[in-house]
Amino acid sequence: MNRRDFLITTSAVTLFPCFALASAPMELVAEQVSAQILPEGEPATPMLGFNGGTPGPVLRALQGEVFDIRFQNQIGEGSAVHWHGLRIDNAMDGVPGMTQEVVEADGEFEYSFRAPDAGTFWYHSHNRSWEQVAKGLYGPLIVDELTPPDVDHDLIVMIDDWRMSENGTLADGFENMHDQAHQGRLGNFARALVEPITQVRRGDRVRLRLINVATDRIFPVELDGVEGSVVALDGMPLTQPQELSGLLLAPAQRVDIIADVSSTSPISFIFPTRDGPYLLGEVPVVGVNAIRQPTEISALPPNEITQPDMDNAVPLTLTMEGGAMSRRMMGDGIWAFNGQSGLTDTPFHSFERGQTARIRLVNDTRFPHGIHLHGHHFSEVETDGTLGALRDTTFVDAGETRDIVCVFDNPGNWLLHCHMLGHQAAGMKTWIEVA
Ligand code: C2O
Ligand code: CU
Repeated sequence: MNRRDFLITTSAVTLFPCFALASAPMELVAEQVSAQILPEGEPATPMLGFNGGTPGPVLRALQGEVFDIRFQNQIGEGSAVHWHGLRIDNAMDGVPGMTQEVVEADGEFEYSFRAPDAGTFWYHSHNRSWEQVAKGLYGPLIVDELTPPDVDHDLIVMIDDWRMSENGTLADGFENMHDQAHQGRLGNFARALVEPITQVRRGDRVRLRLINVATDRIFPVELDGVEGSVVALDGMPLTQPQELSGLLLAPAQRVDIIADVSSTSPISFIFPTRDGPYLLGEVPVVGVNAIRQPTEISALPPNEITQPDMDNAVPLTLTMEGGAMSRRMMGDGIWAFNGQSGLTDTPFHSFERGQTARIRLVNDTRFPHGIHLHGHHFSEVETDGTLGALRDTTFVDAGETRDIVCVFDNPGNWLLHCHMLGHQAAGMKTWIEVA
């Protein structure tokens, strides 16, 4: 990345509306929008969004409540909405050609699902996602704990990058094969969008919900101005809060942080690059909270998840192959799992409902990948063999291997794919059947 291309913005804080669920279904309209991606004074960018903006509205409910959403497609081509990380009915998963028909231009679709887990999630287009998500078709989805943690501010921090051309439009070439064979479509401009706009005080306790919504970029993130702990990954609480350092978010991953504002300088979200730190965004700090007493940061209440049956776990291997500088050619696609590029008629594996699998993810490529499973969370197996964090998207660096353990207890057909959407477009996907 060239630092001169990679503009610094000071207007990093932007507003996107919050929609609190009422009893009536909510209308979620995908449409053309204009967004101020570049700093104020520079041209606005024609994009896609929901209900007039990108990111789309914050969809928010209490754990166990039902989201009723009438999706209307006004973008002029087929689309569908996927509720990323939610363990919901297969028919509501939003995958055209697998769980529903594509929603044609001017069509609509009723999504209705109960949110089983409290946490930080997001929604995005799942049709031609490498283009529609790059153009802005996504938004945050928050499920609140019945007993939420005691914080003064609950901030959503969506991190994205865009490939801008000189005149302020998005560069085209969404299916550029060179991009797809490398790291995907990387932007030349990045930002952390913080919602709601607020001022925090030194001494306040904040919850930060980081979401990487970029199509392809992995974001290492450093925080300035706060001291605290990581309390959840991909919406799932950690059993013990972890040290707040070395954050790395692959596309689609989330990190929840609870932290105390430790100085009067702004809370800054920094993307360390080879050329130096790049400021993604800031939250201003004004005044002092003299009342709050510092207390331990405790774990969030756990979501209910079936314990794996390790003694009877089905052993499987999924090898990532292909891409630039690869030792193997993939035939018709650029990327493959186990020699197969793109979806086949038969699944990677068929499970009986409730079966446990231990899947070895082998990255036999020159690039990192972020592998996402629909409809479930899985545990990452730590190097000492113990079960680590629950995730829906796992980062596997070039040449590395990671085992995951999953209880396949949600019936239906579920995608398993790289969430670098350019890699997904170029064949890095398969599916799993749960009877
Ligand atoms: Cu975030 Cu297949 O999706
Ligand atoms: Cu990938």
